[in-house]
Amino acid sequence: MDEKIPASISRTVQTKLVLPPDTNHLGTIFGGTVLSCIDEIAAITAMKHSKRVVVTASIDTVNFLSSARGGDILILEGVVISTGRTSMEVYVKVECQNIETGERKITTTAILTMVAVNSEGIPTPVSGVEPETEEEKNLFLSAQKRKEGRIRINELSRENCI
Ligand SMILES: CC(C)(COP(=O)(O)OP(=O)(O)OC[C@H]1O[C@@H](n2cnc3c(N)ncnc32)[C@H](O)[C@@H]1OP(=O)(O)O)[C@@H](O)C(=O)NCCC(=O)NCCS
Repeated sequence: MDEKIPASISRTVQTKLVLPPDTNHLGTIFGGTVLSCIDEIAAITAMKHSKRVVVTASIDTVNFLSSARGGDILILEGVVISTGRTSMEVYVKVECQNIETGERKITTTAILTMVAVNSEGIPTPVSGVEPETEEEKNLFLSAQKRKEGRIRINELSRENCI
């Protein structure tokens, strides 16, 4: 596919409220809840880029930098940062906002690989992406290195698994 889709076409922003069932006994959000939100926004982002159904092939580079608390607003942003033949790398940034002070901080960043599939679940080609912001351009340029790292880690984990 020769057509390049601008990153702004896939960029997706979601806001959510952190409610009591989302939090642990310290009043901070469960990591699994954040991961679920990240997976959802990555899927929406990749579907907007590819106009196809997508599945999550891997979630890597998840950095939990700080915690959101009950009552905070979560702001999630996803964007396609690179593509392969059928896969798309999606960068997700999660910020939390304190409703009283308005203070915002980054809680989590993650990079996921989503694969476009047809109705039989077979990987199907996607268009390339055209990065627009400086951050997107830098992430685009480092995509090959991340892919090589992912392949190395997959090989290592296969060697060490039953
Ligand atoms: C992801 C999946 C479609 C790949 O199928 P496959 O038969 O391995 O297909 P291919 O080898 O042709 O790989 C397709 C693409 O996926 C990428 N891929 C496969 N496994 C990957 C992994 N673990 N991490 C990152 N990318 C991966 C390949 O690099 C390839 O990308 P490219 O076309 O851009 O070069 C398949 O493994 C699958 O359906 N997995 C389950 C997905 C799922 O259910 N996720 C929900 C959570 S359980």
